[in-house]
Amino acid sequence: MALEIKKICINLTNNSKAMNLRCRCGDDCVKPAEKVLKNINRFYTPCQSCRDVKLNKFAPLRSQVNLEDIDADFGSCKCGKRHLDAVMAHVLKIMIETGLKTPEATLRDACVPLVTPGYPTRSVPYLPENSMVALADRMDKNCAKRIVEDVPEIKGVLNGNMRKTVGILDSNSDSHVYKLLAGCDMRCDVVQTPYGAICIYKHQGEIHIEFPKPVSPKVTALKRVLDEYNSPRVLDCTCGPGTLGITCLKAGAESVVFNDLWYPAARTATLNLEVNGFPVKIPKNLKELEGTSWSSPETPVALGDNFEVYSADLRELKSILDEQFDICIIDAFPGVETADLEDAVRDICREIVVI
Ligand SMILES: C[S@@+](CC[C@H](N)C(=O)[O-])C[C@H]1O[C@@H](n2cnc3c(N)ncnc32)[C@H](O)[C@@H]1O
Ligand SMILES: [Zn+2]
Ligand SMILES: [Zn+2]
Repeated sequence: MALEIKKICINLTNNSKAMNLRCRCGDDCVKPAEKVLKNINRFYTPCQSCRDVKLNKFAPLRSQVNLEDIDADFGSCKCGKRHLDAVMAHVLKIMIETGLKTPEATLRDACVPLVTPGYPTRSVPYLPENSMVALADRMDKNCAKRIVEDVPEIKGVLNGNMRKTVGILDSNSDSHVYKLLAGCDMRCDVVQTPYGAICIYKHQGEIHIEFPKPVSPKVTALKRVLDEYNSPRVLDCTCGPGTLGITCLKAGAESVVFNDLWYPAARTATLNLEVNGFPVKIPKNLKELEGTSWSSPETPVALGDNFEVYSADLRELKSILDEQFDICIIDAFPGVETADLEDAVRDICREIVVI
């Protein structure tokens, strides 16, 4: 590690505080991983009294049920959960009433349901309170506010187009975010790894959507490389919310440097380190869960016993770090050319893994 960086890190260690997990909305949206994972396999399972809801997603909702009958009791159960379709019907009814959808709208037209914690289930999930963020490309504040107030399962409403990637594609692209219109968009995805499940939180308006699968192809590809090493030093060059670097720490990596050009991603990876049991130190003056830019790429956003987090262009990392790694992971967005990203780290690692 270069002398300059070492000095910065020592300074930061002395001038740092522990991270707290309070969400920027002021609520306790973020929980330690072990709490989320406890009984996660039953989180969306109906009880014996839960009601099945039979709605055709392709036919107008109002041809199947009187819209006036849809409220928080519609399809509800004493256990506090409701079939996903009942929740979607409630959201759609409000969208129709506020004029955002035509009276002929179907459940397919309503919104993208982003459940939290995101966890693959074999059958339709039954949702408890505050377990879904709704993403809709046509939405306004008034409707969003009503949805959050009236639909108990919805914790936040985002306005945006699912097909448009959130964040920054590469250094020459503009950033794009979804707009939070009501509630809170903090949600969690559970990612299974061979080293134990991990929880990846994110404000969904500022971090791209990745639907969790029972087995993550990215983690499988990473494991093949990790199997070749005993405690490797890893650089997670484009870490996003931190999934792959945290997987490496869980696998016993000697150290991991996390980096992402998009500061909200570096900030989110930092949060996820703490969530998954890797205690984080952050600069005292950093408002830990706020802000969209980090003006100091050469200074770590955060650090811990065996990791550091940076927010820099991957092309600059070599001069910032002056450090050698066993593995450099490059996981760019689909369609982003990685040749010059690979060139940028070739001299500082033994092996580059493009995922
Ligand atoms: C597909 S995402 C990474 C997802 C992450 N590996 C995970 O599994 O959670 C790609 C990331 O590359 C980052 N990125 C794009 N251009 C970059 C650059 N020039 N330097 C560093 N990071 C960059 C983006 O901000 C984005 O977070
Ligand atoms: Zn929150
Ligand atoms: Zn029930």
